[in-house]
Order: sequence, then C-alpha cells, then structure tokens
Amino acid sequence: MARVELHGVGKTYPGGVMAAEDVNLDVADGEFVVLVGPSGCGKSTTLRMVAGLESITTGTVSIGGRVVNDVEPKDRNIAMVFQSYALYPHMTVRDNLAFGLKLRGASREETATKVAAAAGVLGIDELLDRKPRALSGGQRQRVALGRALVRDPDVFLFDEPLSNLDAKMRVQMRTEISRLHHSLGATMLYVTHDQVEAMTMGQRIVVMHKGRVQQVDTPLNLYERPANRFVAGFIGSPAMNFLDGRLVRDGGLHLALKDGAALPLPAGWEPPAAALGRDVVLGVRPEHLDLVTGGGFAAPVQVIEPLGNETLLYTEIGGAAVTVRGPGRVDAVVGGAVNLLPRAGHLHLFEAGSGVALGA
Ligand SMILES: Nc1ncnc2c1ncn2[C@@H]1O[C@H](COP(=O)(O)OP(=O)(O)OP(=O)(O)O)[C@@H](O)[C@H]1O
Ligand SMILES: [Mg+2]
Repeated sequence: MARVELHGVGKTYPGGVMAAEDVNLDVADGEFVVLVGPSGCGKSTTLRMVAGLESITTGTVSIGGRVVNDVEPKDRNIAMVFQSYALYPHMTVRDNLAFGLKLRGASREETATKVAAAAGVLGIDELLDRKPRALSGGQRQRVALGRALVRDPDVFLFDEPLSNLDAKMRVQMRTEISRLHHSLGATMLYVTHDQVEAMTMGQRIVVMHKGRVQQVDTPLNLYERPANRFVAGFIGSPAMNFLDGRLVRDGGLHLALKDGAALPLPAGWEPPAAALGRDVVLGVRPEHLDLVTGGGFAAPVQVIEPLGNETLLYTEIGGAAVTVRGPGRVDAVVGGAVNLLPRAGHLHLFEAGSGVALGA
C-alpha cells in the first residue's frame, strides 16, 4: 500500500479550461479520502491525474514516495473503478475477474486463487459462471470491484462507482466498500458528488469547488467548522440557512435584517468582537433552530413535511427562505407562525463579501 501526495497540482485542458488549480493533498498509507463537490468542480480530473489517464499541467503527483507525473498508468500499481462497470459481456464473471491477471501472465493457479479470494470477499462465489447480463446492477458493480481487487494494487481509485445503482443498493454498497477498506487497509481515493456518501465513507473529505480545494477535514469538522460559506452550504442536508444582516448589541444581541426586522440571538453566544456592528452572513443549520413558545422570531409557516422521526418546516426570516428541522410532532399549521431561536454554540458567521468563516 502507499501514500499519495499532490503538490500544487493543476490541469488546464486544451482550449483553456482550468479544471483544477493548486491542489495540495496528502493521503496517508491506508487512508480513505473522498473528493466531493458539485458537477464540473474538477474531481474526476484530479483523480485521473493520479491514475495517469490525464496529463498534469502543473505540480507533482507522488505514489509511495515516487513522483509519477511521467509514469504510465499501468506502471503506477493503481486500480480504478468507474461508474460504468465496463464488464466484458461475452465472458463469465470468473473470466472477467481473471482477465487482467492473464494479461499480466499470472499462472493458472495464482489466477484461480486470487479470483476465489476476491469472490469470497465480495460474496459473489455463486455468480462466477454467469454472464454480466444475468446480474443485477449491484452484482455487476461488485464484479467491477472484484476486478480491481484481484490486481492487489497499492491504491484504489473510485470515480462515482455507485451512481448507476438504485438508492437502496447504493447504501448497501457504501457499507461494503467501507468494510472492504477496513479489511484490506488499502489506500483509497473516492470521488462522489453526493455529500452523504462522502460523509459516511470518508475518513477525511476534500471539498472542491471550481477547480480549487475549499477544505480538507474529517466529516464532523466539516460539519461543525466549515471554512467558508460554500463548504457550509454543501455539507449537511437539508442545507444550512444563511441570513444577511448586521450584528447589533442593543439590550440583547440580534441580527438586524435588511427588511428592518431583528432576529434575536441566544444569550450565552459571544460573536467575535470584530464581527459586531458589521454586515455578516449568519449561518444556522435546520437542526439548530429551536422552536420556542415565547420570544424568538415569529416566522410564517409555508410548508410542513411530517417525516415521522422529524418534521421539516419551511419558513422565512427577513425575506430569506429558512428550513427548520423539528421533532416528529410539531404544533404548527400552514399559514400560522412558529417562534424560532437559533441555538447558542451552533451559529456560524461568514464575511459578507468573501464568504470566509469568521473565527468564533
Ligand atoms: N477532456 C476535456 N476537455 C476540456 N475540458 C474538460 C475535459 N474534461 C473535463 N473538462 C472540464 O473540466 C472541468 C472539470 O471536469 P471534471 O470532469 O473533472 O468534473 P467533475 O467534478 O468530475 O464533475 P462531475 O461531477 O460532473 O463528474 C469541467 O468544466 C469540464 O467541462
Ligand atoms: Mg466526474
């Protein structure tokens, strides 16, 4: 297994598209790191530069301490799994798994041992004599994983491997890949645009936006201490609410909203002194807006979604749409109002222009 390092890595495609810029990342030996971000942010490009499928415009990529910028993909000892399984349709599962090994001149015995081991790990022993067309999507993706597994690579690279599966199968395969990571202790770099997949699988997550790394951190640090407004809005579902206003201490502390109303802020919360009296963006997650009986901000209820374990309320504060996550049963009606109070210890402040987080 191996460590993967990216130093100042950038990619400009012919025609001038800057797909990735100054990407710095150090993936430890045996670590599971997820690259996440919206469509077009440069995830696949970055992964493909590690794989050697895309040339590197600037910077260096190292695998196991060796700079691989000019090393052929087949000599990097990596295995890549894509969204499309690309299995050979005329071959059985067994032959699909064995194909790469045969190409490399592995003996019949070694091939049989490795295929059996991979099939065992992935629970596809029963399927070895079937053709791909006789498999479900999840089973096909398992075979594609098996093909990577038999190669015994230093690094596994995944590019949205679960996107073709239905929601239930995605959740199942998610835990299978995590389990595989634990049992192999392999270095894995995994690309997805799905923040839930990123949060549940990654030991560390790289959030990308417009070709640039926004933050590299553990799932909970990203959730609790997003570095900027983009990360704050991207991680978490339903997304964080953002309110523009000016922090004012006038009796109590409140956010003076653009429409003249004031959002009371909880006692016991101390914003950074530098933020007082300034235009800021206040970020508060739906689960950190408490429904209170007295005080708070009276917000009109526009939509109620009772989900059983929780209730989502769609409201408005100072003209901005605000989502509230309440308990399973909430005493509210559409057309009525609820009193909201942001919870101390869970408020985020961002600079109005740049969106950079203001340290608490
Ligand atoms: N071969 C190419 N030639 C020119 N531009 C490209 C090429 N491949 C990708 N791009 C551009 O580079 C940018 C990053 O693309 P990339 O495929 O890395 O995004 P992504 O984050 O993987 O997105 P998605 O989630 O949609 O897969 C996009 O603007 C894309 O249009
Ligand atoms: Mg992609």
